[in-house]
Order: sequence, then structure tokens, then C-alpha cells
Amino acid sequence: MDNPQSSTRRDFIKATGKITAASALAGVALPYVHGAVDDTVKVALVGAGGRGTGAADNALSVSAAHGPTKLVAVADIFEDKLKGSLNALQKKHGDKVDVPANRQFIGFEGFKNAIDSLRKGDIAIFTTPPAFRWVFFQYAVQKGVNVFMEKPVTADGFGTKKILEINREAKKKNLKVGVGLMCRHSRARGAMAEQIQNGALGDIVLMRSYRMHGPVASARSIPRAMSPEYKDMEEIRWQIRRFHSFIWASGGCFNDYYIHNIDECCWMKGAAMGDPTNAGGDPLNVDAARDKFPWPIMAQATGGKHYTKDDQGRPFIDQNFDSYSVEYTYGDGTKLMHQGRTIEGCHNEFASYVHGTKGFGVFSANGHFPAPSAIYSGLTPNPKNQTWKFPVTETNPYQDEWDDLLDAIRNDKPYNEADRGALASQVCNMGRMAAHTGQRVTWDMALNAPPLAKDLDKLLGFDSKAPVLADAQGFYPMPQPGLKKDREY
Ligand SMILES: NC(=O)c1ccc[n+]([C@@H]2O[C@H](COP(=O)([O-])OP(=O)(O)OC[C@H]3O[C@@H](n4cnc5c(N)ncnc54)[C@H](O)[C@@H]3O)[C@@H](O)[C@H]2O)c1
Repeated sequence: MDNPQSSTRRDFIKATGKITAASALAGVALPYVHGAVDDTVKVALVGAGGRGTGAADNALSVSAAHGPTKLVAVADIFEDKLKGSLNALQKKHGDKVDVPANRQFIGFEGFKNAIDSLRKGDIAIFTTPPAFRWVFFQYAVQKGVNVFMEKPVTADGFGTKKILEINREAKKKNLKVGVGLMCRHSRARGAMAEQIQNGALGDIVLMRSYRMHGPVASARSIPRAMSPEYKDMEEIRWQIRRFHSFIWASGGCFNDYYIHNIDECCWMKGAAMGDPTNAGGDPLNVDAARDKFPWPIMAQATGGKHYTKDDQGRPFIDQNFDSYSVEYTYGDGTKLMHQGRTIEGCHNEFASYVHGTKGFGVFSANGHFPAPSAIYSGLTPNPKNQTWKFPVTETNPYQDEWDDLLDAIRNDKPYNEADRGALASQVCNMGRMAAHTGQRVTWDMALNAPPLAKDLDKLLGFDSKAPVLADAQGFYPMPQPGLKKDREY
């Protein structure tokens, strides 16, 4: 059964989307337009690791209609990372990589030099651990350059409020801001989100998301002193190198891995833009429109660390739990259940599902792409009951998000994903906090929680103090649900 209230809500989402698109340009300065003389959009990369190299590759691989693009500067805090990334990019892209030694920057202030190498209208890529996003974003917006920043956008409520605040200025300047939640650019998911908004599933009552696989990247860490590779590294650079292990740096495995599935569920629920003027409410005043707010407003969660040593008996000292189970509640009572696990040898799943009053939908399954998005009339994915499916194999959303960003820059289309990225990150902050404290955590509690690392804009040398410190045995403060109730560790 459809109900009139939800039809109004779907109309509202669609209508407000249109209004925002139309009004986004009203009263703002026109952007820098690349001139006939040199039409190249220059790109600077801050954070030349795995994804940074991938994002720069995508930037240099945009279709001819959106080119030309050129990489002109790179910043990192490790020289080996910077050189490795540049070598790989040079091999693949030749002349499109124009980064001489005087535009290679090592150190915590390198981001400023990299951004200073750009003109207005060019793009800065931020692919460090998320804790630094707001610091870089602030400088880029001040300088008037467009931004592509990876997910997660924040690791705590402090970061979320910072991004929302800085983005007000970015919007005034009509800067284009892409966020690496590339599934938002998945053509299959986009087509299914449209189906849902047109009522194909009736009212949404439940969403389920799963990110379960073995430990990857720097999810688990042993004490620095026990690691031949890292024992002589400065503490701060080590924590950043192992950023999935430290909540201040990344939000841990929770934010880093789960955000894609959590965000796509919020999309199905109507978080089309995550823009306060568009998505049904102001994130700084959720109570004013709670039943329309397309992000959950409360979380309760469980989680635990089951494995405490590696196969050589060395202790794991990272701040992650190995498993998380979260119940998110929306203002209108809709639930989002998320299961996350980083343990080998268990059932693996990487998917997002939706249940509505008219049926069931598979938004994604088996990872990021291609998404086998489909809708069914029953409660299961029984092919006999399939009522809609995305008709073709989709293209790579990592590339699509870059073509979409360049299209917006070239043709001055409204394009700013920063609020949405920050709010999706904040949903993660809220769920993670609920698991780590053992309390029911509301949107406002998570948004106003004490900052985990608030002075990252003041880091200078590699001898800077790290935001969290180990005891004499190399152990860091851990979440203790029920004991530490008002902070995560
Ligand atoms: N969208 C996706 O599917 C996807 C996939 C992978 C990673 N990511 C995201 O990209 C980000 C980076 O992940 P990664 O896997 O590339 O990690 P990585 O460790 O390979 O790369 C991060 C790089 O940033 C550098 N760095 C850290 N702090 C810095 C600072 N203050 N200034 C300059 N450089 C700094 C590091 O030295 C490193 O080279 C994370 O937020 C991650 O979640 C997104």
C-alpha cells in the first residue's frame, strides 16, 4: 500500500532536487572558465597512495569531451609514496604528468604548495586519511579551486561540522566539489534510485547492508616497536601510515569500509544530495524536520574484538572491533540494519538491500560494480518475481564520477557533493560511537561529541605529537562499551 504522506515525500525529494538545481547558480559569482588559449584543467594530488594514484589516473583518463587534463603537483608525507605514484602515472600517461621536482612536496604543509600550483577552476585531489579533509578543503576553498576528496569525508562530528561550514563558502563561490562515494555515480544504482523515488517499492520500511570480509589494508596493527618496517618511524607518521587502525585518523574500519553501503541505503531513503536546502532538513537542527530527514537520527549497536594476537603471538593494538552490528533509526521509524565484519574464514558479503511495502530490491551485491540492481515483487530475489532490472552492464563508477565532475566544471553545472559526503560520514560516526560506547547515540550526540583530533591544521614537523598515545607496552586506549560511555576510547 502506498500512502499519501509518502507520495508527498517522494514529490518533495524530486521537487526540491529541481529547485536546488535551478537556484544553485542564483546570486553566485560565475566560475573561472577555461579559455581558448589553454583549455587544460590542472590537477594537484595530495595523498599519493593507492587511491590517490587511482584518482589521478581517472582524472587523466576523462573522455576527450571533458579533457584535456594534466597533473601538475603532488604532495605527500612519505617520499617513497610520492615517487611510486608519480612513476606509475608517468608510465601510463606520459606528458599528461608534468610534475618536476619543484612541484613535488613532502611534509604536513605540502598541501598548501600543491594547491598554490593551481589556478582558479583547477582541481585539488585529497586522498589522504579523512581526518585531514577539512584542513585541505578550507585552504582550497579560500584559494577558489575545485576539489575532489575521497570518502570518508570526516572521522568525527567536529570534522563534519567543519566541512559543512567550509562548504557554505564553497557554494557561494560556485566551486565544484566531488566526493569519492563513486557508487553515487553508478548508472545502475541511479536508475534504481529513480524507480524507488517513483514508487516502484511503495514505502521503504527496512534497508539492510553488509560489508563482511577478512582484514584488509591497515585494519589490524601490532605495536610499532615490534614491527621491523615501522619501529624507527615517528609516531605520528606511523599512525597515519596505519590509518585504518586509528579512529582519529579514519574512523577506523567502520567509516572506511562501511560508508559506501550505508550511504547507498540513505540514497534509497531519499538522501539525494545531502544538501540542507535539498534533502529534507538542516543537519544542524534535525528536530525541525525529523520525519523528513533522509539520514538516520539514532543508532544502537553491538561489536567486539575477538582476535587479539597475530599468528606469531604479537598483540593487535589497533582501535577497531572485529565485528559491528548496527540498528539505525530514521525519524519516520524506518530502520537500516548494517552488519560489518573483518574476520577471515567467515561468510563474506558486500551488498545493500531494500524492503518496501510493494516488494524487495537488490541495490548492489558483490562489491562496488557492476551493480546487479533489480526489483522484485516478493520478499526475495526470486527471478520469477523480478519486476525491473538495470538492462545493461554498467560502466566503471570510479571513471564516471570523474567524467561527471569535469562535465560540471566545463559546462558550469551545479555540482557539490561535500555536504552529502560529510553527512554520510556522520551516519558512520554515529553508528561507530554507538558500538564503541554501548549507548543509544542520537544524531546530535554524535555531531557534538568531543573532537578526536582538532588541531590537525597546526601539524608541522614529523616530530609533532600524535593525537592518541600508546602506553609503555604499545597499547592504545580501546573502546570499552558500558565503561566508557561518553567517549569512544
Ligand atoms: N572510493 C573508494 O572506493 C576508495 C578506495 C580506496 C581508498 N579510498 C579512500 O582514499 C583514502 C586514502 O586511502 P588509500 O588506500 O589510498 O591509502 P594510502 O595509505 O595508500 O594513501 C594515503 C596517502 O596519503 C598520504 N598522506 C597521509 N597524510 C598526509 C598529509 N597530511 N599530507 C599529505 N599526504 C598525506 C600517505 O602518506 C599516503 O601516501 C582513504 O580515505 C580511503 O578511504 C577510497
